[in-house]
Amino acid sequence: MSEHQSVNPLDAGQMETIVNDALAAIAAAKDLDQFRAAKRDHMGENSPVAAASKAIGQLPGSDRAAAGKALGAARKQISDALAARETVLEEEEQTRRLAEETVDVTAASARTYPGARHPLGSLIDEVGDFFAAMGWDIAEGPEVEHEWFNFDALNFDIDHPARQMQDTFYIDGTTVGGDNPEDAHLVMRTHTSPVQAHVMLGQKPPIYVACPGKVFRSDELDATHTPVFHQVEGLAIDKGLTMGHLKGVLDHFAKAMFGPAARTRLRPSFFPFTEPSAEMDLWFPQKKGGAGWIEWGGCGMVNPNVLRACGIDPEEYTGFAFGMGLERTLMLRHSIADMHDIVEGDQRFSLQFTGRGKGK
Ligand code: DAH
Repeated sequence: MSEHQSVNPLDAGQMETIVNDALAAIAAAKDLDQFRAAKRDHMGENSPVAAASKAIGQLPGSDRAAAGKALGAARKQISDALAARETVLEEEEQTRRLAEETVDVTAASARTYPGARHPLGSLIDEVGDFFAAMGWDIAEGPEVEHEWFNFDALNFDIDHPARQMQDTFYIDGTTVGGDNPEDAHLVMRTHTSPVQAHVMLGQKPPIYVACPGKVFRSDELDATHTPVFHQVEGLAIDKGLTMGHLKGVLDHFAKAMFGPAARTRLRPSFFPFTEPSAEMDLWFPQKKGGAGWIEWGGCGMVNPNVLRACGIDPEEYTGFAFGMGLERTLMLRHSIADMHDIVEGDQRFSLQFTGRGKGK
C-alpha cells in the first residue's frame, strides 16, 4: 500500500504508532474472523510492518542493522499480542461451541406412539382363545371357495336365492365354465359354514371346532353392512349331542363376550344346513331404549343331509352348529354405531381400545 511506502523503521514515533494500532486492532477482535482480519491488516503482505521491512532495503547500509532491530522488536510485540489473543479467542470459541452443542439427555423428546391393533383382530384372538380353552380346535378354510362347499354340501337347493349373483361374488377368469362366471363354480365364500364341510371330510368325529374367518357378500358399505366381514362358525359332532348342549355353549360364549348378565334365546328359523334351525338372540342390557333381546346369529342341529354329504353317518352321530358376525359382535359389545368406523382404518378408532386413546 502506497501510504505505507514512506514508513521508516528508524522513526521511533512512527513505529510506536504502527505497533499501537496493531495492538488496538488485535485487542478489539471479538472472534476468530475479526482476529484473522486484524492479523492480515497488521502483519500481512500489505501491512505497515511489511512496508517497513521493504523500506530497510532502501536505507544506507549503516542504518540497516538498527532498522532491522527496531522492526524486529515491533514485530515481536505484534506477534506476541496475536498469539495471546488467538489463544483467548480459541478458548472462547470452544466454550461457546460446547455450550451450543450440549445435548440435554434429560430433555423430554417428541413422542411417537406405536400403532394400535385393530379391535377386530383382538376380538378374533379372544374368540379363538375362548373355544381353545374349552378344548375345541380352530380351523380355517379358503376364502375363494368351490360352490360345492359354500352351497351344495350345506344342502342349499340348486336354485336357492343366496346363490344369486346379487348376493354372491362369483369368480370368473377360470376356463371351467366358459363365459358365464356362475358356471365356473368358484365363489368368494359367503359364510364360514363351508369350513364345516372341510373339517368333516378331513377328520372323524368327535369334532369340536371353531372357524373364524373373512366372508364376502355383494352388499354396499353402510352403517350396518360391509361387503367383506368376519364370522365365527362353531361345529360339534359327537354321539348324543342335543340342542341342550348347543344352548349351553351359546350361553357360555355370550357371557365370555358380553359379561355375566348376558344370555341367549333361540327362535325357530330356517337354514338349509340345520334341522331344526334357530335364530339366536342375545340379552342385551345396554340396548338403546332399555334392556332387550337383539339378534346375534344363527344355529341349529346339523342337517343329516350335510352329515351324509361329508361322510358321517347320521344314525351314529348328531351335531350342532352356529355362526355369528364378528363385526356385529364388536359393535354390540362396544356400542359402535357405524360400520364405517370399523372398516376405515383410522388409527384413532383403534387407539380407543388400547387404553392409550386419550393420549397425544
Ligand atoms: N351361515 C349362516 C350365515 O351366514 C350363519 C349360520 C347359521 C351358521 C346357522 C351356522 C348355523 O352354523 O347353524 O348367516
